Amino acid sequence: TREGFEHYMLKEIYEQPESIRNAMRGRLDEENATAVFGGLNLTPQQSRMVERIILTGCGTSWHSGLVGEYLIEDLARIPVSVEYASELRYRNPPIENNTLVFGITQSGETADTLAALRETKRKGHRTLAICNVVGSSIAQAADGGVYLYAGPEIGVASTKAFTSQCCVLAMLGLYFGRLRHLSFERGKQIIEELRQLPNAIQQTLGCNEQVRDVAQKYQNASTVLYLGRQFNFPTALEGALKLKEISYIHAEGYPAAEMKHGPIALVDKETPSVFIIPRGTTYTKVMANMEEVKARGGPVIALANEDDPQVQAVADDVIHVPQVPEFLQPIVNVVPLQLLAYHIALLRGCDVDKPRNLAKSVTVE
Ligand code: F6R
Repeated sequence: TREGFEHYMLKEIYEQPESIRNAMRGRLDEENATAVFGGLNLTPQQSRMVERIILTGCGTSWHSGLVGEYLIEDLARIPVSVEYASELRYRNPPIENNTLVFGITQSGETADTLAALRETKRKGHRTLAICNVVGSSIAQAADGGVYLYAGPEIGVASTKAFTSQCCVLAMLGLYFGRLRHLSFERGKQIIEELRQLPNAIQQTLGCNEQVRDVAQKYQNASTVLYLGRQFNFPTALEGALKLKEISYIHAEGYPAAEMKHGPIALVDKETPSVFIIPRGTTYTKVMANMEEVKARGGPVIALANEDDPQVQAVADDVIHVPQVPEFLQPIVNVVPLQLLAYHIALLRGCDVDKPRNLAKSVTVE
């Protein structure tokens, strides 16, 4: 049931502090400063041998794969590539020995993801699933995996599955990192940062009113740009996808610095840009990108930390997000973007839970 929420999507957005807790339950091992997984079916020796990771999936699950690329390379220093499952299944790329292939999927039934896993498994590579639905086709086809335990996701637009996937990928980064160069101290610190995450999401949900006002203002836009760098680049893609699929407004996500290579030509006073600009290593760079857009007359909506007068001086509208470590920012920063898509869709009279032309699980090619 929707438990008092107007839509499943809204309920699922609000469930995220809890669904993240469920993804972490029993998996953070303080004593050894690492993460533990019941179903990876890998010995520590086998895990240490992994030299490359391929993450594959579709749609939102592909976006969490992109977050995973930044996460795992950062925490574990293992090279990661991210592949659309629909491309991977026919592309026949050379895959080295000691490559681990993860299929990322909420439903566990996406035909392309299933086919990509089957094909890589047939070639003798170890395949694992990061999956929400227990006992689903992909969970069964894989050699092992990690369940999200996010509970049923009913809204067609994926929300809580995305944040849980990112959380699982962060824990995998910790696990692989601790088998390699990550120190005990750093491992403990990461566990502590993960433990704070549900509270940070709870706090982020407090932006709902702010987001509703922004939605009101921009509901008639015909194109919206979403821009962020590093960990916040996949978040920009995901924000754009949410808006497209439920409000039918055209949106594009880009790494903010790519703007000047073409998309900035789209900017005019009718085309808002959403900048994801919390404090972090690329803050001043994103600031410069934001000023470029502003200078060309484009309305700017910024997702930024509270008490950031610099952002306030440039942006037309600011949505506050709490400051969290960079590797966890996607999980926090996607929340206002989910809400923004939700409120705009609602204002435009769209069927939020069942957008046109879409199905919850895509079991055809
Ligand atoms: C977007 C969305 C889709 C799915 C994609 C993969 O909100 O829901 O893009 O993410 O169809 O689905 P799963 O994760 O079930 O494999």
